[in-house]
Amino acid sequence: MTAPLTHVAARPSQVLRSIGPERRIAEPCTMIVLGASGDLSRRKLMPALYQMAKDGLLPEPFQLLGVGRDAYDDDAFRKLMRAELEKSDELDGVDDAVWERMSRQVHYVSGDFSQADTYKAIGERLATIEQDRPADARNRLFYLAVPPSVFEAIVRHLSESGLAPKAAGAEERPWRRVVIEKPFGHDLATARELNGLVLELFNECQLFRIDHYLGKETVQSILVFRFANAIFEPLWNRQSISHVQITVAETVGVEQRGGYYEEAGVVRDMFQNHLMQLLALTGMEPPVTMSADAVRDEKVKVLRSVRWMGPSEVDSAVVRAQYRAGRIGTEDVRGYRQEPMIAPDSVTPTYAAMRLYLDNWRWKGVPFFLRSGKRMAERVSEVAVQFRDPPHLMFGHETRKLLAPNTLVMRIQPDEGISLSFQVKTPGAAYQLAKQMEVAPVAMDFAYRDAFGDVNPPAYETLLLDVMLGDATLFTRSDEVEAAWKVVDPILDYWAAHPPARMDTYEAGTWGPASANQLIAQNGFSWREPEPA
Ligand code: BG6
Repeated sequence: MTAPLTHVAARPSQVLRSIGPERRIAEPCTMIVLGASGDLSRRKLMPALYQMAKDGLLPEPFQLLGVGRDAYDDDAFRKLMRAELEKSDELDGVDDAVWERMSRQVHYVSGDFSQADTYKAIGERLATIEQDRPADARNRLFYLAVPPSVFEAIVRHLSESGLAPKAAGAEERPWRRVVIEKPFGHDLATARELNGLVLELFNECQLFRIDHYLGKETVQSILVFRFANAIFEPLWNRQSISHVQITVAETVGVEQRGGYYEEAGVVRDMFQNHLMQLLALTGMEPPVTMSADAVRDEKVKVLRSVRWMGPSEVDSAVVRAQYRAGRIGTEDVRGYRQEPMIAPDSVTPTYAAMRLYLDNWRWKGVPFFLRSGKRMAERVSEVAVQFRDPPHLMFGHETRKLLAPNTLVMRIQPDEGISLSFQVKTPGAAYQLAKQMEVAPVAMDFAYRDAFGDVNPPAYETLLLDVMLGDATLFTRSDEVEAAWKVVDPILDYWAAHPPARMDTYEAGTWGPASANQLIAQNGFSWREPEPA
């Protein structure tokens, strides 16, 4: 048992101005949202675009063309958009003047994505919308906010209709960019097929595969923390680090997404993308520059170094479980099998924990424990790096039991920040009396809120701006997506071939199943239980 942590005051004394390249300006463009009346568009894209308009981040000129099956005209679509902005919890209300200006830039075309006529109609509207712009400023950003089942039809039509031809390179003007939402494939084979198709139709520089975790400030900050400070990097390796824990815990259940989730499960939904990105950023070597390819080259190397898991190893290195009924805060919640659209005998995991090893010089032998689940005790995402024990302790037997290993925690959300725990001597005369040095673990805490106030732009705002700027650093490249599938594919294959006789469960509102504790205990460690913010 280690003593509870005392948090000592450790605040940044000064906020320095960031040092970065010259301010970049996005070129004029039209954003075409395919699936404009769907959930993603309403909940994420519209608020992000509004916020960008408000912050003056949209290019000039900018137009938005929504495309969907619902038969709206421009006005009806604008009304829908305004209503969605009003109810968005990502915004503090809607400013009439901002909306007035923005709404004039919003248009809508209805159509069926499988029909060539739809793309003809899009082309005609674009010709009108863009008529005042010089030909080389008629840039187009196609955003596929649609289920994967229609990806293929859409990309083929975009290409065949001439709306988005293959570019020779990133410098070509006007540009055509295509944003693809996850899931990118269902497994390695389907991801490869999809990559094959999109790379036949487009140039990689036109493709932006979204992983919204990369748009989070704190995720980007992992690189800054690691590579803009000289003091941690010398310790960031197998000599000093005993293990790493990556946690993405959610308190929400599957909500209304049962149909999708039954097919996906936690490994496809969270590990293949978000957790693999956190693993890659934590484990990667310093890139030579911050260019998209330099950063992505290093991330791919980490994913490729993950030790392949043979079928006989899955049971001992990976745990799967499902939430059963329980309590989240003051609310009683039902179990996964009782959720809408979920089979009563479903074996889709809502929680997984796994132990991975990176077979490279830096990390050989250091276990990385990854876990993610729905309906857990707290909503918290963090990367916790635990350092090795000091080689020799001379503070007495009792003291040794109290020592907690140094842990560096990068808190992704909520309560974004970084903390470092270490030991101090407890003040007082106990040492003289008991001949034991009293030691207590404390933590130095940095909270983004304290240093910068509440300036955490939603991930989609950051990512949309990057697409407009043509910066693909925060997007996943084809080889990266495939490397991530290669890590999880053997697990998914093994699970599909070996459904559990009895699905392991955990009570909603807890930290997961007992089997996950046993998994980490095999290495002599235990999971952190992050405190509520
Ligand atoms: C999505 C998953 O990619 O990420 C969801 O499909 C999950 O199931 C969500 O809830 C979590 O994102 P965030 O930003 O709330 O941590």
